[in-house]
Amino acid sequence: MENSLAFAQMMDKKFALDTLQEAYVFPQHLQKKAIYFLGNSLGLPAHNAHKAVEMINAQWAAHGVEGFFEAQPPWWDLEQQAAQELLPWVGAQDTEVAVLNSLTVNLHFLLLHFYKPSQKRFKIIVEEKAFPSDQYLIKSQLEFHGISPEDALIEIPRRGTCWDTQDFLDQIAAVGDQLALVFLGGVNYYNGQLFELEKITAAAHKVGAIAGYDLAHAVGNVPLHLHDWGVDFAAWCSYKYLNGGPGSIGGIFIHKKHLDQKGPTLKGWWGVPKEKRFLMEPKYEGAQHAASWHQSTPSIFALAPLCAALQLRNKMAPHAFFDRQKMLTTFLEKVLLEILEQRGSKFSIITPKLRGAQLTLIFNKEGRRIFDDLQRQGVYVDWREPDAIRLAPTAQYNTFSEVYRFGEILAEALS
Ligand SMILES: Cc1ncc(COP(=O)(O)O)c(C=O)c1O
Repeated sequence: MENSLAFAQMMDKKFALDTLQEAYVFPQHLQKKAIYFLGNSLGLPAHNAHKAVEMINAQWAAHGVEGFFEAQPPWWDLEQQAAQELLPWVGAQDTEVAVLNSLTVNLHFLLLHFYKPSQKRFKIIVEEKAFPSDQYLIKSQLEFHGISPEDALIEIPRRGTCWDTQDFLDQIAAVGDQLALVFLGGVNYYNGQLFELEKITAAAHKVGAIAGYDLAHAVGNVPLHLHDWGVDFAAWCSYKYLNGGPGSIGGIFIHKKHLDQKGPTLKGWWGVPKEKRFLMEPKYEGAQHAASWHQSTPSIFALAPLCAALQLRNKMAPHAFFDRQKMLTTFLEKVLLEILEQRGSKFSIITPKLRGAQLTLIFNKEGRRIFDDLQRQGVYVDWREPDAIRLAPTAQYNTFSEVYRFGEILAEALS
């Protein structure tokens, strides 16, 4: 791997990345495609996702409510279609995934089911400084149960800029039979670190605890094998690496071992399988399926673009996608390291090798000025106060040539 335009173009050709780009719609800068490295924030729309929304509008006009049954495909099948398309990306069996609501809402009701504290077993292990919504979520769940976060919440600190898996394993063993739940982001939103979910899940189970994850930054970004790892539950949003659209519908995974006819602790009519839903029976009858966790009618306007984006994504096998993704981020790292070599240590890369697409750069000074400069040049990255730039080129629609060009623009901004 070398930091040259010729190498970047050769890689783009090898993976036909420029052709893949054509399937997506890019923001424009000076009548040219902008460099969009924000797969970690809001994935770009695919052309077919735009068409899917137009199609729902036309079906709504043509069929009214009958669109649920008569549209092609019938609207009430879209949730199942999206769930099926997701299976290879989360490593789930076919009854373990459902697509519904949005992320924080899903995590709340998953926790109402999976976090059942007793006098003895009530503690929760999390990573320190998790995404704020996760912090509020866990603290408010504890308060809902009348438990003080000071007594129950154990936050595992970073060592420097990253977490050490062993710290999780040691703490899980130390808390032992007081531990009710381990709850982490699969990939930390800030430093981009991928947690070793298989090892952490096994350690949690060894002491009789539940392991659940917020996969907002992991799904579509790193290989996941939730079923085989024995993960108890997980949830994610679909607007980042899954390209579902702004605020799009969320997804959940519930391991088969937890699926039964009883469904979730709090129920709604949409959790009744579709054959029986419209019988309007007073008694809830679920199925051994994550779909029983539906409570409300899902948004068809959110499902349609997600299904389209997933169909496009599924033209490639996950392992081929992730191989390409790894090379793209490694190339970005190489470009950045060369800039550091040439221009002095104006920033550091805090993301460890165990990661997905995202790299996080911490600037010594002038970070904000450099971010503003990048924006002016049509480069979309993400600024986090007080000193961080996060960027995530995704192998769905970013090219090695864009990474090379980004390096040139950054070097110029630093000089
Ligand atoms: C790690 C993580 N968790 C939770 C959320 C909140 O998601 P939502 O607003 O869809 O509930 C986000 C949003 O970016 C996130 O990055």
